Amino acid sequence: MPPGWESEPLPTMSHISPGIERVLEINRRALADPDEFWGKVASELYFAQRVGPAFERMDDPPFGRWFPRWKTNLSYNCLDRWIGTDLQHKVALHWEGEPGDRRTFTYLQLWKEVNRFASVLQDLGVGEGDRVTIYLPMIPEAIIAMLATVRLGAVHSVVFGGFATQALADRINDSKSKVLVTADGGWRRGKIVDLKGLVDPALLQTPTIERVVVVKRTGQPVEMDADRDRWYHEVAPTKETKVAPVMVEGPHPSFLLYTSGTTGRPKGACHSTAGYMVWLYYTTQAVFDLSPKDLFWCTADIGWVTGHSYITYGPALRGGTMLMYEGAPDFPSPDRWWELIERYGVSILYTSPTAIRGFMRRGDEGPKRHDLSSLRILGSVGEPINPEAWRWYYEHIGARRCPIVDTWWQTETGGIMIAPQLGLARYALKPGSATLPIAGVDAVVVDEQGRRVPPGERGFLTIQHPWPGEFTTLWGDPERFAQVYFSRFPGVYYAADFAMQDADGYFWLLGRADEVMKVAGHRISTTELEHILLLHPAVAESAVIGRSDAVKFEVPVACIILKPGVPPSSQLREELLLHVRTNMGPIAVPGQIYFVEKLPKTRSAKIMRRLIRDVVEERPLGDVTTLEDETSVEEAKRAYLELKSELERVPK
Ligand code: WTA
Repeated sequence: MPPGWESEPLPTMSHISPGIERVLEINRRALADPDEFWGKVASELYFAQRVGPAFERMDDPPFGRWFPRWKTNLSYNCLDRWIGTDLQHKVALHWEGEPGDRRTFTYLQLWKEVNRFASVLQDLGVGEGDRVTIYLPMIPEAIIAMLATVRLGAVHSVVFGGFATQALADRINDSKSKVLVTADGGWRRGKIVDLKGLVDPALLQTPTIERVVVVKRTGQPVEMDADRDRWYHEVAPTKETKVAPVMVEGPHPSFLLYTSGTTGRPKGACHSTAGYMVWLYYTTQAVFDLSPKDLFWCTADIGWVTGHSYITYGPALRGGTMLMYEGAPDFPSPDRWWELIERYGVSILYTSPTAIRGFMRRGDEGPKRHDLSSLRILGSVGEPINPEAWRWYYEHIGARRCPIVDTWWQTETGGIMIAPQLGLARYALKPGSATLPIAGVDAVVVDEQGRRVPPGERGFLTIQHPWPGEFTTLWGDPERFAQVYFSRFPGVYYAADFAMQDADGYFWLLGRADEVMKVAGHRISTTELEHILLLHPAVAESAVIGRSDAVKFEVPVACIILKPGVPPSSQLREELLLHVRTNMGPIAVPGQIYFVEKLPKTRSAKIMRRLIRDVVEERPLGDVTTLEDETSVEEAKRAYLELKSELERVPK
C-alpha cells in the first residue's frame, strides 16, 4: 500500500495518524460553530442575497434550518458560475449510450441546453414550487431536465427508470406533479425499455399531470396523446434562449426523491436548496478530492440519490468532468466498463459493492486486458462492502495504488456522511469500514434506550446534530417525518441502520435495522412490494423479506396466501413475477415465491419477518426475545416450525 495506507485494523488509538487528527479537528470545529463553518464554505458559492445566519436552530424536527434568508439557485451554481471563466469550454459531460453512440457537452453547451429545456418547462406553465416528475433512461436529458427544473425554482421528482407503472403512478400522485418528462424508451442489454408504454397506463390514474414532454431516444413508434404529449424536439426552441435562474431562499425545496420505508407508501424525501448545495459542494471535494482536472464516473442511476448528488450536482458544483453511461455493465461485452475507463481516462470511479462482487465473479482477466492507470480513487456506496470485495477492488481495479472511499449515507442525508476524506487528509483505511464522519456529522451509535454504546458493540446509528444536507421534511407529511426519524430517540435523527464504532473511532455499517431491503444497492420496501402483490386478484395475503445474497446483498422472497379456491401453480407463480415486473419494476421481482397457507404473525397481526427470514435462509430460529413483546417464545417456535414444514412441502 502507499505510505500512510494500511489495510488491516489499527491495534490501538495510539497508532492514529495525524491525518485522522485533522479530520476529527475539522469535524469538531464544524459542530462547535456551524454558522461560522458552513457560512465560510458557502462563501465560495454564488448567493444573490446573504442575510442572517447560515444555521438557525428550530424547536421542531429536523431542529435546524440552513441559510434561511440567503438566496441562491442550484443550476446557477452548477453552470452559470463557469460561463465566462477558463472552464466554460471544458467538457462537463461525456455520455455514452449502450449502443455506443456518444455525446459530449462543454459547460457552455450544457448551460445552453438547460436554458432550452427550462424555456420549454416554462412555456408549459412550470413555475416556482411546481413539481415536475422525471422518468427517463440514463441520457443527458435526465441531467438537463433536473437542472432546468431547479433553474425555475420548481421541484423535481425523478422516478427510477427501473420502476414500472404502479410505482410511477403512486409517486406522481403523491407529489401532485403537473408535468412529466419521459422518453420513448432507453437501451438495456440490447433491448428497448418501453418507457412510454409504462407511462401511458400510469397516467390513467394521475389527474394532476397536464403535459408530458417526451424525449426521443430510441425512435421506436409510441402512442402520443395529441392534447397531452409533446415531443421535446418539436417544442424546444431552435434559437438560443435564456431563462433567468430564479433565486430562492435556502430552505426552498429543490427536489423530492421517493424512498422506501416501512409502510407500503413511499416517502417523498424533500431536500432544500442551499443546505443541499453546500453539502454536495463540500463532500465532493472532501471525500473524492475532486477538482476540474478529474474525470468522475459515478455509475449509479440518476433515479437514486447517488445519481442526483454525485452525477447531476456534486461534480458540476466543482467544475469537474463527468462520465455517464446508459446501459448494463456487461453489455455487449463483460469488458464494457473497463473499456470506458480506458477510453475516457476516468480518474475517480464511484460504484456499488454489488457491481464489484459481480465483476469479482468473472475474475480479473477483464480489467487486466485494459489500461486502468488513469484511476486514482475508487468509491463504494449503497450497501456494506465486505472486506473480500474491498480487497479485490483495491487489488484488481486500483492496482494497489488507489485508495477506496467507502461512503455511508442515505437518500435522507442528501450527501455522504461517513467516509474517508481524501480531499482533507490521508489516514489508514480498513476494508469494510466507512471510517470517520464528515465535518458537522455528529454520528453516535446508541442502544435501545438511546445511550451511547461502548466501542466494539453493535447499536443503532443516530445523527445528533442537524447537518446542511439534511432533508427538510417528507413531502406533504410532516407528522410522518417527525415520527419515523425523530421519535425513536427524541430529538435526534434515527438512521435505521445498525452500526459499530471500533476502538479507533472508525464506523462499521452493518445493514438496515428496519424492514427495508437493499437489492443490488437499490432500496426497496418489503411492504411496498407486498402492497403491489396484493393488487393481483389471486393474492389474499403476502409477506416479503430480503434473503441474503452473495452478489446482490439481498433478494426479495415472497410468501403468498392465495384467495380461497385459487390453486397454486407454477403458471400462477410466473404470472405473479410478471405482475411485479410490470407494476413495480424489474428490480423488485422476487427471487422466489412460496405459496403458503398461513403466515407467522403476532397477536396484533404483524408479520414476523425476522422469523420468515430465518426459515427461508435455513437458519435456526434466532433470538425471539426482541421479536415482538406480545409473542411468547413458544408461539414463535411453533410458527417457525409450521412455516419450515410448509416451505419444505411446496415445490420451488
Ligand atoms: C445502506 C444510498 C453500508 C444503508 C446512498 C443506508 C450503506 C441505505 C452504505 C441508504 C455503506 C449506503 N455501507 N451501508 N457505505 N451506503 N448504505 O437511501 O443501509 O438508497 O441506510 O441511499 O443504504 O440507501 P439509499
